[in-house]
Amino acid sequence: MDNCQNIFPYSSENMQKAAAVIKHGGLVAFPTETVYGLGADVYNSQAVAKIFAAKQRPHFDPLISHIADVEFLRGYAATDERVFALAKHFWPGPLTFVLKRIDHNPSIDLACSGLPTLTVRMPNHPIALELIKLSATPIVAPSANKYQSISPTTARHVYEGLGDRVDMILDGGACQVGVESTIIDLSGRKTVLLRAGGTPKEDLEEFLHEKILLSDGTPDLPSAPGQMLRHYAPQNALRINVDKPQTDEFYIGFAGYQGDLNLSPSGDLREAAANLFAFLRLADERTESGKIAVAPIPMNGLGLAINDRLRRASYAHKKTES
Ligand code: TXA
Ligand code: MG
Repeated sequence: MDNCQNIFPYSSENMQKAAAVIKHGGLVAFPTETVYGLGADVYNSQAVAKIFAAKQRPHFDPLISHIADVEFLRGYAATDERVFALAKHFWPGPLTFVLKRIDHNPSIDLACSGLPTLTVRMPNHPIALELIKLSATPIVAPSANKYQSISPTTARHVYEGLGDRVDMILDGGACQVGVESTIIDLSGRKTVLLRAGGTPKEDLEEFLHEKILLSDGTPDLPSAPGQMLRHYAPQNALRINVDKPQTDEFYIGFAGYQGDLNLSPSGDLREAAANLFAFLRLADERTESGKIAVAPIPMNGLGLAINDRLRRASYAHKKTES
């Protein structure tokens, strides 16, 4: 077994080291409340390019900027009262905004894949916030996995997927939310949900007193360019909404549906989201038949994000090349 030499525990010395890596154009993987991110200085084009190379991610798929201070939005993106009100209520937290871009630095062009918009969030994790502050720059960070594979929720997952393509992996234990942030497009008048995630749609609707439109991929309701159907793929065939698994299927249960694993025996969707990606990895390792089935999960709250990831995982059952 590898000794994971690039995984570092939290200490103020290691945080200083990590910030120095970011400032010198290197890559640092760090924990957030959702999943681990693969971070670089947004103002360093070579560092941003390294992210795409390490993940084998196409350049048309833009990155999220992570900030530690709302004030940073001024000068970076077009803001209005709705943006600041949402930020005040939901940040730090698993919510990402798509805003009109006003900073046209070439490295930001690269991070945003040349789009007129940029995505930004403030993560709710002390290590992430400290790293951004010490580095004194927004940090662009996609999930720290290879393109189209399952997002990492532990430092070890990052190591298994990216190995020494990352200069440093900061270990913050398991991510508490476990699915990626919710992405909403605020660049137009109406709020559009581009990706279901760690902030429930119902919470946003309650706060905004408006129904949130679901992106259907048309120009009026654009979707996140990275939302390919084939995404979050485990290595083996996966069926969803299964109440009676076949005898040879590795069964991931939920609530009363008992399985080889159970996402949440008590039917708690937050617990299920936190377990989701780690259980998909375990199922991949443990299935003997090469088949995985998952119990039905309700569509409310975090269930929307869980079902979205499962649907994508079930779509691709070919062996992933990465
Ligand atoms: O929870 C998260 O959001 C994690 C942690 C690390 O913060 N990050 C994450 O990043 O999931 P990533 O790169 O794996 O997913 C970002 C998604 C992609 O689907 C990308 O296409 C979309 O955001 N995106 C980025 N910029 C966009 C833009 N300007 N317009 C629409 N979608 C955008
Ligand atoms: Mg990702």
